[in-house]
Amino acid sequence: MKHYLQFKDFRAEEYAYLFERARVIKQRFKNYERYQPLTDRTLAMIFEKASTRTRVSFEAGMYQMGGSVVHLTTGDSQLGRAEPIEDSARVISRMVDIVMIRTFEQTKIERFAAHSRVPVINGLTNEFHPCQILADLLTYLENRAPVHARGYDLDCLKGKVVAWVGDGNNMANTWLQAAEILGFTVHVSTPSGYEVDPKVAGISRSDCYKVFKDPLEACRGAHLVTTDVWTSMGYEAENAERLKAFADWCVDAEMMAVAQPDALFMHCLPAHRGEEVSAEVIDGPQSVVWDEAENRMHVQKALMEYLLLGRIG
Ligand code: CP
Ligand code: NVA
Repeated sequence: MKHYLQFKDFRAEEYAYLFERARVIKQRFKNYERYQPLTDRTLAMIFEKASTRTRVSFEAGMYQMGGSVVHLTTGDSQLGRAEPIEDSARVISRMVDIVMIRTFEQTKIERFAAHSRVPVINGLTNEFHPCQILADLLTYLENRAPVHARGYDLDCLKGKVVAWVGDGNNMANTWLQAAEILGFTVHVSTPSGYEVDPKVAGISRSDCYKVFKDPLEACRGAHLVTTDVWTSMGYEAENAERLKAFADWCVDAEMMAVAQPDALFMHCLPAHRGEEVSAEVIDGPQSVVWDEAENRMHVQKALMEYLLLGRIG
């Protein structure tokens, strides 16, 4: 049994398989073809933080694949009344086939997984957001990768530059893990005090990222420019000081102008126009944020299929 708790839980070759399955599954969806390999399977979704995309993509995806969904939050379950996470894992995993959790500390999802009888997926923690990077990479591949007989050519990622402008947060950490596994480089620019910590990111090679003081320099020559909210969920008490600290970390037309002429812009959403990104950029021609959001569903369907059924064919 496999869990998916962080990006480095899978190898490059598993990603090649997953992205190909996501491509096929998306094609079927677009053609209105019924594809229900998860009939009679149940997904439990546990949300200790808010969500729009993660909830809709997992829930719609599971129903489309023939399964059903149980939705739990801290407020409406015993999780909010201090039932130990280990006990919750033991109980929930006796009744469902797969679990998705959005929570605070990564250690919490690890404790759940250690006591679960079924696969567990990270739907965002303070440290990581692997399902989002799956969708981001699928979106990049759709736009830039040749499709061979065995699927997208992941070698097209090798040597590419992803500019990360903003907080050294869960998204940034996950980009670093993806860079280490798939062979691209992340140019990271954060305000001081908000740097990425390679120990928290869990990477072992320092050549998969480069740090820039100036966000404009991080964007120079980048093939993909990406950012995220200045204040992630769980850090709301720091909002006022973050508004000041991040003022120069807004992805605008000037930053996009120094990137590759065909650079893509991505944002995991929700976005704050005028803070981490200008309206001109997120609503402009280089932005692929709506495909990126939709791809959450297609790639997570491939992920659930893989965790529950293994490789198809
Ligand atoms: N990108 C993302 O995870 O969005 P939600 O918080 O809406 O799920
Ligand atoms: N970094 C953000 C991502 C939201 C999808 C957060 O953790 O709130």
